[in-house]
Amino acid sequence: MKKTDILVNLLASDIENKKVLEVACGTADFSVSAAKLAKSVFCIDLDDSRLSDQAKNNNICFQIMDAAKMFYSDKEFDTIVIYNAFFHIQTQWKMIESECKRVIKSPGAIYIVGTWSLDTNLMIDVFGDRAVWKDGFLIVKVTNKSD
Ligand SMILES: C[S@@+](CC[C@H](N)C(=O)[O-])C[C@H]1O[C@@H](n2cnc3c(N)ncnc32)[C@H](O)[C@@H]1O
Repeated sequence: MKKTDILVNLLASDIENKKVLEVACGTADFSVSAAKLAKSVFCIDLDDSRLSDQAKNNNICFQIMDAAKMFYSDKEFDTIVIYNAFFHIQTQWKMIESECKRVIKSPGAIYIVGTWSLDTNLMIDVFGDRAVWKDGFLIVKVTNKSD
C-alpha cells in the first residue's frame, strides 16, 4: 500500500466526504490518495515542477499559490494537510498557520505530517509533545479553536 494511502486511512474521519486542502503539495501524492475518499481535493504549491501526472489526471484542483497568502475565502475547507513539507515552509510558518486557520471551517483540522527526519526533527523542536508518532508518521494536529 502506498504511504499516502496509509496516511489517508489514519486520518479517514477527517478526509471522508470532506473538502480537503493539501498545502505545499509538491508531487501531490497525498492529494491523489485523499481524492479516493474526500468529497473534493484542492492542493497548492509555489510551482508545478514536481506535480505528478497522476495528480494532473485525477479529480484534484491544483493551483499555484503561496500558502502564506491564499486566494481562498474564509472557512472554505474541512481539513488541511501539510505532508513532508514543514522544513520547507518553516520560515513562513506563522503566516501559513494564520492563513490555514482563516480558510478552515470551524470545527476543522489542520494536520502537519512528517516522515523524513528533516521534517520530523524540526517538528519535534517546534511542537514538542504535540507531535505524536503513529504508524511511522509524526503528526501534529492544529485546531482552529485554542491553538
Ligand atoms: C518537500 S517539498 C514537497 C512536499 C510534498 N508534500 C510532497 O510529498 O511532494 C516542499 C514543497 O513546499 C513548497 N512550498 C514552500 N513554500 C511554500 C509556500 N509558501 N506556499 C506553497 N508551497 C510552498 C515547495 O515549492 C515544495 O514543493
